Amino acid sequence: MIKGGYMHSNRYDSIRAIRWLGNGVELLDQRRLPGEASYLVAKSATEVAAAIRDMVVRGAPAIGISAAYAVVLASGERFRSSPASWKQDLEVDLATLRAARPTAVNLAWALDRMLSHIPELEGDPVPTLAREAKRIHDEDVAANYRMGELGAALIEPGSGVLTHCNTGSLATGGYGTALGVIRTAFARGAIERVFADETRPWLQGARLTAWELVEEGIPVSLIADSAAAYAMRRGKVSWVIVGADRVAANGDVANKIGTYSLALSARYHGIGFMVVAPTSSIDLAATDGSAIPIEARGAEELLRFAERPVAATGAGGWNPVFDVTPAELVSVLVTERGVVTEPTEARIASLMSAGSPAPSA
Ligand code: MRU
Repeated sequence: MIKGGYMHSNRYDSIRAIRWLGNGVELLDQRRLPGEASYLVAKSATEVAAAIRDMVVRGAPAIGISAAYAVVLASGERFRSSPASWKQDLEVDLATLRAARPTAVNLAWALDRMLSHIPELEGDPVPTLAREAKRIHDEDVAANYRMGELGAALIEPGSGVLTHCNTGSLATGGYGTALGVIRTAFARGAIERVFADETRPWLQGARLTAWELVEEGIPVSLIADSAAAYAMRRGKVSWVIVGADRVAANGDVANKIGTYSLALSARYHGIGFMVVAPTSSIDLAATDGSAIPIEARGAEELLRFAERPVAATGAGGWNPVFDVTPAELVSVLVTERGVVTEPTEARIASLMSAGSPAPSA
């Protein structure tokens, strides 16, 4: 594993999944975890786009960071092969990257941020763009530390928390969003146990979140997705804590399929539902959740399990991999700029324009 994190034992922060090598980007291959920690080095935008599509790297902020490094690789290649027209030639790479996965807005956000520097560039674009990609990466980690502090402050000592999918170091530049809050809260002694949903069908919870938490020595109990409501009923859960692939202007949240069911169950049981997402995941252009494109992946992810068929031969499948949780089910949205209690359009607008702590209810 790429052990690039801060090794302070009280931070539970030893994992990094993305590393810039100067001539390529090294990615911890998430398809092979937890059995094998192996790396893939992507040396072109096409290879990074394939890595995103094939889930070598996944998780909204990690997708954006990888794409930013891909722009550095592509601009270097285009500049070397045709210095006069590299800016136009780059457009095809940007289009390939943009199309790699549809739901996480961090992808478009990172590409647009990289793109905003291109008009002013003269000569070799690599040094400037590499600096910007690194800045995007570092800012993401800093945002996660900040969100960790803000979110953990809401968790009472002795809590059990439930999380979904993987929102940790593997899904971000490092530390994690929801898992960053869990890391910080555990370090402060507020969390006794983490319940991790398996997260069918790709099993991000079983394969990745359980792995990260075991690596850090944070107690984790894996549960079937369908056990979540019962865990709440039994009083084992004080907070449901999840990440986001895209937050709409009105506070609706697109996240891994199953998040909506968790929010409904949490509301029924009177349990807090915390969404932890950097402002790079907020899309003010999406008025509400209905404007967010929801990725559907191949039915074979459902019909097969670890390569083996599990469904009756001849059965079809429907595999939307994200869903939308209406804002009214969200208790708090934790961002690096502040906490928005019961998010509404006005509160999110105020968060985004002020750039400072958001208003609360
Ligand atoms: O399909 P994935 O594994 O890319 O989905 C990831 C999620 O849904 C995460 O919850 C989200 O990206 C937030 S990660 C910090």
